[in-house]
Amino acid sequence: MPETLTVTDNRTGKTIEVPISDGTIPAMGFRQLKSSADDFGLMVYDPAFTNTASCRSAITFIDGDVGILEYRGYPIEELAEKSTYLETAFLIIYGHLPNAAELAEWTHNITYHTFVHENIRKFMDGFRYDAHPMGMLISTVAALSTFYPDAANVDDARSREIQTVRLIAKMPTLAAFAYRQLHGLPLVYPDNDLSYPANFTSMLWKMSEAKYAANPVLERAIDILFILHADHEQNCSANAMRAVGSSRPDPFSATAAAAAALYGPLHGGANEAVLRMLMSIGDKKNVPAFVKSVKSGEGGRLMGFGHRVYKNYDPRAKIIKRTADQVFEITGRNPLLDIALELERIALEDDYFIQRKLYPNVDFYSGIIYQALGFPVEMFPVLFAIPRTAGWVAQWREMIVDSEQKIARPRQVYTGDRKKSYVPIGKR
Ligand code: ACO
Repeated sequence: MPETLTVTDNRTGKTIEVPISDGTIPAMGFRQLKSSADDFGLMVYDPAFTNTASCRSAITFIDGDVGILEYRGYPIEELAEKSTYLETAFLIIYGHLPNAAELAEWTHNITYHTFVHENIRKFMDGFRYDAHPMGMLISTVAALSTFYPDAANVDDARSREIQTVRLIAKMPTLAAFAYRQLHGLPLVYPDNDLSYPANFTSMLWKMSEAKYAANPVLERAIDILFILHADHEQNCSANAMRAVGSSRPDPFSATAAAAAALYGPLHGGANEAVLRMLMSIGDKKNVPAFVKSVKSGEGGRLMGFGHRVYKNYDPRAKIIKRTADQVFEITGRNPLLDIALELERIALEDDYFIQRKLYPNVDFYSGIIYQALGFPVEMFPVLFAIPRTAGWVAQWREMIVDSEQKIARPRQVYTGDRKKSYVPIGKR
């Protein structure tokens, strides 16, 4: 079977053959189709990249129709059960599960790079009392580039290693500083005796005690949430990381751009939107009326439902639902869970959602856990950005050494006027 596509341009009768590889055709193959000699050539039009592969990647595999998610070939279910976030981050970035020595060295390196320059505290001080922690995180991660000018050497493999460690190590510190700032609490420095998630909880919640004792169930729940959020192939923020990184700024600046993409309510801000939605529904008995309003378009979207890629149950949502039960045993049941369960039950039986293949995504239940853990909704995208840093860094590293990549620069279909003459202001 020839692995080619034959296309005839009915404007001119010209036929071309373009190669098919890995289930894709090269968009540049169409440029040779021109309606006249001075025509630029045919382009493909794909706003929002709904059917365009922007890169080759060996990091994360998703089969959205079946509901499969794998990092470097390992199913998310197994990693969530058996791995830790730091081990998973290593896997995502380096492509293999670390052996004992590699994991020890990696853990040591991350643990000993968790501190940030003291001047970052002054940054934090400068924010208004009610500053959104995601705004603080985006700004301070960008600011890190000014503390590490060596990060600009993106073509230097050694520099990329150091920035990789710095980013993964310092994101929880910046996130916790933003949380403490939000609450007007003194900042807590990292504790190198603690695990990655336990240190994070210490920086968040330590008060006057000499050493923070993390609850092991909650520590593990945070680690599982981190594993589930570590990467998700070419999502909006990974695409931002690659697109911004393609002009070759330092990775701290590119990470700030990725985090900014994550901030939006259609991406990492969705779990905040889910909670606000559940709170506004207020009671289980109001769910049918709410679903009706979503279907008529008046009630907005059912937040936490639907996904560009998953047209089946998001596998992460299943794991989160289980994790929620473990967390609630410690924290007490979040009353919003009943509204969420009822919403899911009704939506999954409703033709509107069935026909459009709208299922709960990762954000549908994550916010309920975060709230039970005591996080204000403003912290939700921050809690997403910490683990996703591993994915952003892995995507960035893959892009930097990919000889097929260039500066990301799409084409456009120009719809404006042409060749107008300037009109002096008095004559307009
Ligand atoms: N509630 C109600 N209707 C929906 C929803 C929803 N959550 N999502 C999609 N639809 C409908 C659309 O109105 C559209 O209907 P139509 O064909 O009658 O016009 C149809 O389903 C297809 O929707 P699109 O917007 O074309 O789907 P797209 O792939 O562009 O959007 C997205 C995906 C942004 C995730 C969307 O489903 C959505 O807005 N969901 C709610 C926000 C959310 O939960 N985001 C989190 C995503 S996961 C993450 O970022 C970690």
